[in-house]
Amino acid sequence: MSLIQADARAIPLKDETVQTVVTSPPYWGGIRDYGTLGQIGLERNPIEYVASLLDVFGEVRRVLKPSGTVWLNLSDVYAASGKGGGGSAGKRKSWDSIRERKGFRMPPVGYKMKDLTLCPFLVADTLRTSGWYLRAVVIWRKEAAVEPMRLDRPAVSHEYLFMLAKSEMYYALNPQEKWWGHSVWTIKADHYGSDHPAMMPRELVRRCLVCSSRPGDLVLDPFCGSGTSLRVAASLDRRAVGLDLSMPYLRDIAKKRTSWVQRELKEQLA
Ligand SMILES: C[S@@+](CC[C@H](N)C(=O)[O-])C[C@H]1O[C@@H](n2cnc3c(N)ncnc32)[C@H](O)[C@@H]1O
Repeated sequence: MSLIQADARAIPLKDETVQTVVTSPPYWGGIRDYGTLGQIGLERNPIEYVASLLDVFGEVRRVLKPSGTVWLNLSDVYAASGKGGGGSAGKRKSWDSIRERKGFRMPPVGYKMKDLTLCPFLVADTLRTSGWYLRAVVIWRKEAAVEPMRLDRPAVSHEYLFMLAKSEMYYALNPQEKWWGHSVWTIKADHYGSDHPAMMPRELVRRCLVCSSRPGDLVLDPFCGSGTSLRVAASLDRRAVGLDLSMPYLRDIAKKRTSWVQRELKEQLA
């Protein structure tokens, strides 16, 4: 497993070396502050956010093998609630302080108050038109809603997982598991001793890897955070590279690596 402190817009890997990417970039709207300069997600509007991710996926495309696939996890975000601390989106370059991070009072140009931005679909469609094959949209259904009950709309209890291929013919394997017959996957949150605020469940990553890579293949997560994809890749005998801008997150992964391996081994033997 290799950990690299790097911006996902400049991936320090050779061309066509990666088989599968499983990743969850920061969502648009400054929902979370990862505490690093250059972090994605604080752009002024969804168009600039999509442009940032297009840069990342240009690099991902370069390092991906022609038979490779990408599993991209994103969640939708509301344009503005009217309650945020950041003033009007139109007048600001980006959110860059904790106060501003609470969200814009006014929506970006083109959106109304309370509109969903549909950022995940803007990203997916932009990737599709830039050459990626958009092969599947999976709804990751969470067992519990991720926000408090609202008076005027149903609470959000899902995220999206886009499956993208670099070429028309790519590697895929029917894993002979029940979930392969569905595009709605119910998976519980899975926090296992990390302080990272946005961890992917291990089962989500496992599903992506077993159907799109083989033992020995190289797996990349350009936004590795607490290292979930790397951990699952290692437990499935894949090689893994993780990038993140945040040195504290990378240090935490390095510190926990040995205990992960031992715990996975125990789980497999149990
Ligand atoms: C949603 S979290 C990923 C969580 C991860 N999937 C996990 O299970 O822990 C997004 C990560 O992207 C990192 N990040 C933000 N901007 C970045 C950039 N430009 N390049 C690389 N990493 C970045 C953040 O530090 C954060 O850890």
